[in-house]
Amino acid sequence: MNLSNQKILIFGGGSGMGLALARRCVEAGAEVIIAGRGEQKLKEARQALGNPASLDVAAVDIGREDQVAALFAGIGSLDHIVSTAADIEGAYRLLPELDLKAAQRVVDSKLFGPLLLAKHGAPRLDATGSMTFVSGIAAYRPAARGSVVAAVNAALEGLVRALAVELAPIRVNAVSPGWVDTDIWAQVAGDRKAETLAAMAERLPVGRVGQPADIADALLFLIGNGFTTGTTLHVEGGHRLI
Ligand SMILES: NC(=O)c1ccc[n+]([C@@H]2O[C@H](COP(=O)([O-])OP(=O)(O)OC[C@H]3O[C@@H](n4cnc5c(N)ncnc54)[C@H](OP(=O)(O)O)[C@@H]3O)[C@@H](O)[C@H]2O)c1
Repeated sequence: MNLSNQKILIFGGGSGMGLALARRCVEAGAEVIIAGRGEQKLKEARQALGNPASLDVAAVDIGREDQVAALFAGIGSLDHIVSTAADIEGAYRLLPELDLKAAQRVVDSKLFGPLLLAKHGAPRLDATGSMTFVSGIAAYRPAARGSVVAAVNAALEGLVRALAVELAPIRVNAVSPGWVDTDIWAQVAGDRKAETLAAMAERLPVGRVGQPADIADALLFLIGNGFTTGTTLHVEGGHRLI
């Protein structure tokens, strides 16, 4: 894929799927901005990509409208906006331990965040631009402790369909990943991460869990395919079949 002369903003680009996408975009010749809350994490991500001149970083909380508005005010025009951002810390709980503040952070990062990117970012895109967000398998195969994340993922997919209509011809899509080996699993499974992922790999039709690059490929498809909008692309190794 040739992305030269394309400028792409990636929220969540400091780690996991967002970082894998940033790598692909830089390799394809794009100018890339990775955004997240942790300045140090973003600097390390930039270093991991070889400090390319075409990659910039921006420390911004996607759930804070003042910060999101300030970012777009200083950014100029863009071709594509992606968010893989999610703050799920403390959100995987059984109902008796439900922490509404943690639930609010999931909503802020995965639902209101994309809404703010649409409000302040869409005016920076031209008619061929796109916005792509990340929902997740929890909406389709919910597990105990996962009600907040399941609800937010489902809501995000509804938001994507609405934005595809309101922002047209700008295209708006989502990728719904299955289980992917990233840092986020430390928060979901703690020190049982490796055995949890290995057990799922045995159950999945493809015989493995996902890697960040699997999701980066799907995000790139949605960025590049001019006839796809309002869609959720499932990249989950057959998880919905088991
Ligand atoms: N990994 C899986 O198995 C899986 C499965 C289904 C769905 N998903 C979804 O896939 C997406 C990507 O997750 P990942 O696995 O790549 O996890 P990850 O490595 O933890 O990436 C999440 C990124 O979001 C950023 N972030 C969190 N809260 C933010 C905020 N308020 N503002 C700006 N940035 C924020 C984090 O950076 P800072 O903390 O520095 O802000 C981090 O770089 C998420 O939406 C996740 O829910 C993951």
